[in-house]
Amino acid sequence: MFNIIISYILLFLALAFLLGSAVFMFYRTYAMISGAPYAGTKKVRVNKMIELANLQDGQRVVDLGSGDGRILIAAARAADIEGIGYELDLFLYLWSKIKVKKAGLGDKIKIYRQSYWSVNMRDFDTVFIFLIPYKMKRMEKKLQRELRPGVKVVSHGFSFPNWQPVIKEARILVYQK
Ligand SMILES: C[S@@+](CC[C@H](N)C(=O)[O-])C[C@H]1O[C@@H](n2cnc3c(N)ncnc32)[C@H](O)[C@@H]1O
Repeated sequence: MFNIIISYILLFLALAFLLGSAVFMFYRTYAMISGAPYAGTKKVRVNKMIELANLQDGQRVVDLGSGDGRILIAAARAADIEGIGYELDLFLYLWSKIKVKKAGLGDKIKIYRQSYWSVNMRDFDTVFIFLIPYKMKRMEKKLQRELRPGVKVVSHGFSFPNWQPVIKEARILVYQK
């Protein structure tokens, strides 16, 4: 009897693990196809991106593919901004919400589990991106079409095909509309 119970518990755990892995892989693959795979920006680069963004109090700041929320958390600590993140991956979305709450920034940062391709960019003052080269052309067109004049785009790692950056430093490119 004891052996049967243990077998059922092990079977249940194995199925839960398999289901969890399948859901995890689904979201990772979905996000990778839609935008970029997850890779968190290193702390030193996060700091550089925030410095180059020169955030001002009252700005609406967005991270397109906000991962675990580290850029928005650093931004909200640097200035009195409203941070908005869009993240497709369910696990990163949930984890970032926990991190934001733990940092005591729940009233300053909102994260949505939504594709940034479906969001109009007209209301943002600063945009952070860390995409993948083959999505940069599409993003350039979207941002050129939707951003207001003067808005800054801070890109980690990759450049737009046509738009010229105003700053290029340590693999970070800053664009101004
Ligand atoms: C390279 S990571 C950058 C994470 C974070 N911004 C950072 O710098 O640490 C790209 C993120 O974008 C997310 N992503 C990819 N396509 C997306 C889409 N269409 N809408 C929202 N998030 C997306 C991925 O799940 C991933 O977390």
